[in-house]
Amino acid sequence: MVTSPVGAHGCAPLQFSPPVFYNSRCFCYETSMAEKADLHHRAKRVTIKDILRTAVDMEKKTMSLYTRFASVFQAREDLRTFWFTMARHEAGHVGALVLVESVLESDPVLAENSKVWFDPSTVVRLRSLLNAYGREAVKGVSIERAFEMAIDVEGSELEDVVVELLQVVKEKTLRDQAVKLLIHDLSDLSYMVEKFTKNEALLARADELVERRVDTLTFASPEKRQAPLS
Ligand SMILES: [Fe+2]
Ligand SMILES: [Fe+2]
Repeated sequence: MVTSPVGAHGCAPLQFSPPVFYNSRCFCYETSMAEKADLHHRAKRVTIKDILRTAVDMEKKTMSLYTRFASVFQAREDLRTFWFTMARHEAGHVGALVLVESVLESDPVLAENSKVWFDPSTVVRLRSLLNAYGREAVKGVSIERAFEMAIDVEGSELEDVVVELLQVVKEKTLRDQAVKLLIHDLSDLSYMVEKFTKNEALLARADELVERRVDTLTFASPEKRQAPLS
C-alpha cells in the first residue's frame, strides 16, 4: 500500500470500490470518485488510477482553453503559434498520463491497491476555473486576460500532485519519462507576458510558476538536481 504526504492531515482512511469511469470506446472520462468525494472531509484515500483519470480530464480541458486562445488570436501569428504550442504541451501531458495508466493496467495489484491521500478540492477548484474561463473565452478575451487565465490554470497544484503520485511507478525509466513529459516548461509564457503586457504582477506570477516547475522536476528526480528544465 502506498501513502503520500499530499493532503494528509489525519483523516481516517476511507475504503471504497472505485466505479468504472473510463469509456474506452469514446475515450472520455466522467466525473471521478476523487471529485465526487465529500468535501467536508477534504483529503480522501483514492486509487492512483482514479486520480490519473481525473487529471486526464483536466489536461484535456486546459488544452481546449489554449486551443480557443489560438483561435481568438489567429490574426497574430506569434500569439497563435504560442497558444497552439501551449495546447500541444497539454496534449503531451494527456499522453504521459495515458501511458502511465496503461502501465498500471499491466500491474492490476498496483493499480487497484495503491491508495493515496488526495484532497478533492484541488480538482473541484480547477474544474470550476476551467469551466468559467472556457465560457469567458468564447466571448473573446484580451491578450493580457488570456495570459492571466493561463497563469491561474497553471498555478493549480494538480500536476504537482500527479508528479508526486507517479513515484509509485516502479519502473524508473518510465517514471522519469512520464514526469518529464508532464512538467510544463512555462518560460515561454513568462517571455510572452513580458513582451505583450506591462503588468509586473502578472510577470512575477509567471516567473514564480517557472521556478515551481523546476523545483517539481528536482523533487521528482533528485539525481538531476543540476540539470536544466528541458
Ligand atoms: Fe498540463
Ligand atoms: Fe500546462
